[in-house]
Amino acid sequence: MYPLRRNRRLRTNESIRSLVRETIISPKDFLVPLFVVEGKGLKEEIASMPNYYRLSLDNLTKEVKELWSLGLKSVLLFVKVDDKLKDNSGTEALNPNGLMQRAIKTVKDACPDMIVMTDVALDPFSIYGHDGIIHNGQILNDETTSVLAEMSLSHAKAGADFVAPSDMMDGRIFEIRTLLEDEGFHNTGIMSYSAKYASAFYGPFRDALNSAPVDAQNIPKDKKTYQMDFANRNEAIRETLMDIDEGADIVMVKPGLCYLDIVRDIVNAVDVPVAVYQVSGEYAMLKAAAEKGWLDHDAVMIEQVTAIKRAGASIIASYFAKDIVKIINT
Ligand code: PBG
Repeated sequence: MYPLRRNRRLRTNESIRSLVRETIISPKDFLVPLFVVEGKGLKEEIASMPNYYRLSLDNLTKEVKELWSLGLKSVLLFVKVDDKLKDNSGTEALNPNGLMQRAIKTVKDACPDMIVMTDVALDPFSIYGHDGIIHNGQILNDETTSVLAEMSLSHAKAGADFVAPSDMMDGRIFEIRTLLEDEGFHNTGIMSYSAKYASAFYGPFRDALNSAPVDAQNIPKDKKTYQMDFANRNEAIRETLMDIDEGADIVMVKPGLCYLDIVRDIVNAVDVPVAVYQVSGEYAMLKAAAEKGWLDHDAVMIEQVTAIKRAGASIIASYFAKDIVKIINT
């Protein structure tokens, strides 16, 4: 074909490149994860996540106002729970005046139109750091999903727009949807972590919440009996289609970068929005390499999220959200 087709013509300068660009990232793509901690005036940097913080509620107010002013309109809340409040079944998660419930109200008071999504899982509340209730060395499925449904209801009552179950128990979307409907929360949505892999990229997140599985007798320290095997692909489709049947409004693939083949498969297979979580380990890797001067932080950051969107994500949960919009807004 050459020289009739010269592909470089469309790359001559930034004006033509921007005219033909297929994927444009915008503040509207992002969901901002936020870590909340009990106390006052606290902004604690997470050791393995440079420039990312655990915020007390007063600082959460400031943060969401700033996010809103930058055009970021949805947040995903996680709480760090005091060790004293942890048990095997996540009792504290159901406390109507618990940290999560107050955090939801805090965000809604500060920014009524901010979409508030909440993490629904037992691990930050569990003495074992697992996403399920443990009995005889087993993670119990159905007993756990009942608690997750109650937890979701409690978040909905506090004002959450979406609950985001991140546990990977079977049937939890159905349990949650049914209870929300029974209790009149027809408009509370569910963003399901539907294809969540047992990944080693979650380490820094577990530091942030002090939620790593503990070394207790008979309990595996990994989450491989409920999160998916990263070698599998078909299973991701099956999990996702089941969650949609059970009532998920938004589905998710997690982690991000290593799983973009899965993202594309799922986008092609479903008719609901697909979210991708660029997780804590992905954030930490880039921060570390940039700190050493080995990678250009901002350039790699933009390349990574653009690739996630190009793969088909309609929502990107990312710790880089604020940094990115500061760049693309200017
Ligand atoms: C807990 C949960 C985890 C993440 C989100 N929700 C950790 C885990 O499953 O162990 C990870 C997020 C990240 O690494 O950024 N259910």
